[in-house]
Amino acid sequence: MSSTVERFDREAREKFERHGRTVIHRGELLRHPVYTRVLHWSVAIVFILSLLSGFALNSPWLFRWLTPLFGGGAMTRLLHPWFGLTFTIVFFFQFLNWFAPMRWTEGDSRWMRQIRVYVSNQEKLEAKETGFFNAGQKLYFWTIAVSALLFLITGLLLWFDHVMPRWVVAGSYVVHGLAALVMLAGFIIHIYEGTAAAPGTFRSMIDGTVTEPWAWTHHPAWYADVTGRAPREAYEQARDEQARANRRL
Ligand code: HEM
Repeated sequence: MSSTVERFDREAREKFERHGRTVIHRGELLRHPVYTRVLHWSVAIVFILSLLSGFALNSPWLFRWLTPLFGGGAMTRLLHPWFGLTFTIVFFFQFLNWFAPMRWTEGDSRWMRQIRVYVSNQEKLEAKETGFFNAGQKLYFWTIAVSALLFLITGLLLWFDHVMPRWVVAGSYVVHGLAALVMLAGFIIHIYEGTAAAPGTFRSMIDGTVTEPWAWTHHPAWYADVTGRAPREAYEQARDEQARANRRL
């Protein structure tokens, strides 16, 4: 990431931090500062608005009941491209904000080859090289980045369909719909991963913090980075303390 983007991102973080504070208690770590949280929830809101209005336009026979939410059919048609455009703009800022920790590494390729271990929860701790984001999260991020670009291009072509050749409009419909389905599938997995699959994750997007056990369990390399402690030792120490406390009961 160029130094201009880094500077922009740092200044935005500082500005947002003046309007909303992140309180970090003992035993917690800062995960997502105010700026990131505002961006993430803005992305989520416009994404859902784009998705619902898009469903209503694409398959009215099934989703016509959604149009009153947007003020009727004509209004849904008018608003959908604006929701989509806002989504790509806000996601662009999120893209800049997360570009650095989303860089793909050799460790991520290893993680992907062993995804079965992650999905089946065989190991208590994530692979020790897992940093701020794991490979699954990075994959989701890059899927959105590519889909958002396709959305933008095909969305603009569809917006001005009256001046486009028919084959361009037909092709844009297909690509737009496919990108929406890919994002929807990712979104469903994402909600599960960000809530039920790993308790303690959701709060990071609410108050900005996570507990140390969450960090050493899911992102050991990041934990080692920010605390200077070894994640496995911290885990074993906490486990032994818990066992001693249980014996005393
Ligand atoms: C509305 C329900 C949603 C919930 C409950 C949710 C929850 C979360 C949480 C808790 C995180 C932090 C994960 C961590 O720190 O490890 C996160 C990250 C993220 N969110 Fe969401 N999110 C939602 C919607 C969305 C939408 C609509 C998008 C984009 C279209 C999105 C894109 C991302 C991305 C790219 C990340 C970083 C990578 C990852 O953690 O997968 N989220 N989300």
